[in-house]
Amino acid sequence: MLEQRPLSLYIHIPWCLRKCPYCDFNSHAVTSKLPEKEYVSALCQDLETDVGLLELSDFSGFHSVFIGGGTPSLFSASAFEQLLNYIREKVGIERGAEITLEVNPGTAEAEKFLGYRMAGINRLSFGVQSFHADYLATLGRVHSGREAEKAIELCLAAGFDNFNLDLMHGLPGQSIDDVLKDLKKALSLRPTHLSWYQLTIEPNTEFYARPPPLPEDDLVIEMQDSGIELITEAGFQRYEVSAYSKLGYQSQHNLNYWLFGDYLGIGAGAHGKISDPGAGLIKRTRKKRQPEHYLASGLSRLAEVNVVPPEDRTIEFLLNSLRLVEGFCIDEYEARTGLGFSHIAKQVESLCDRGLLTKKEDIVRATARGFSVLNSLISEFIEQ
Ligand SMILES: C[S@@+](CC[C@H](N)C(=O)[O-])C[C@H]1O[C@@H](n2cnc3c(N)ncnc32)[C@H](O)[C@@H]1O
Ligand code: SF4
Repeated sequence: MLEQRPLSLYIHIPWCLRKCPYCDFNSHAVTSKLPEKEYVSALCQDLETDVGLLELSDFSGFHSVFIGGGTPSLFSASAFEQLLNYIREKVGIERGAEITLEVNPGTAEAEKFLGYRMAGINRLSFGVQSFHADYLATLGRVHSGREAEKAIELCLAAGFDNFNLDLMHGLPGQSIDDVLKDLKKALSLRPTHLSWYQLTIEPNTEFYARPPPLPEDDLVIEMQDSGIELITEAGFQRYEVSAYSKLGYQSQHNLNYWLFGDYLGIGAGAHGKISDPGAGLIKRTRKKRQPEHYLASGLSRLAEVNVVPPEDRTIEFLLNSLRLVEGFCIDEYEARTGLGFSHIAKQVESLCDRGLLTKKEDIVRATARGFSVLNSLISEFIEQ
């Protein structure tokens, strides 16, 4: 039987100071004054419409809230205070829930951080990418390495003790030594969480149109092996392909995504996934992408609703959950897909025999070898 719990909320802020050449997120360079007030009221209306999709009996509020972008830290603390108060009043947020805000170090100000904390935000995620001036320039970032450090100092001074740093590797011209220097600097700032991504070249980006020379695959593998060693020696656990955390600081919001849990997505271009246990359906929603269309569309902000066909549920579940080092438990598979485990038991057994998966009691996870060929492993579950 499908379950709509836990239920998270994603809020998208679609503006940035400048568009980075590698970025395919729905983010737009600010060209005039930000319509902050109008956008917050559009978000409130958007949420109110989405509430119609919810099964509210026995609901104790959102399990986590993530304010991402774009650059949410362009918005004032009072904007988020108003928004979070509205969410608490209309729908509710679980006591102690993780509430994250993404920060671009180029937009950090001391008073803003204090205000964010007062508004109830309890986790910050900084887009640092690198501390090295040359790579920051290649990536078109608006801040220096020193500004990133300063932003983290401000966050600590404002009382935030839970923060993530986003770093990238596999950058044009990068050596293993440079990668390790970036990681050492990041670790010295004592984050609770590290998201360490390999640069990928995405369609519809400046890098796609004019690809920069990237390091060879073998070099990237060496970067990853040495980097993982350094991060784990510093007391972090790798719990997902690109995510590392101190004990007790895994991102609750991302864990819910990776376990194919439900979430509402509000804001321009935001995606949501919501189960309807009564009808036995899983729906995906997407809001209008262009900020001006989103702002202008009154109550019709929804651009698309698609039903996830039952034959796609297993793949969607596994594409997410097998990214987790800990894998998934059988109950989670059944609650999130609405299918019995018998549906995949034979393939799981065969992949266990081939040393790519393990199944201990009711936990299924990829082995180290399975983890390195994750996509081809998952493709074995595609229904003919
Ligand atoms: C949604 S972005 C937003 C973060 C924030 N706007 C910033 O950039 O400061 C989240 C993270 O995804 C990573 N990212 C974005 N595009 C990427 C790409 N093409 N390859 C690898 N990582 C990428 C970056 O580390 C980025 O900080
Ligand atoms: S600041 Fe972040 S969201 Fe904005 S363009 Fe750069 S990577 Fe994308």
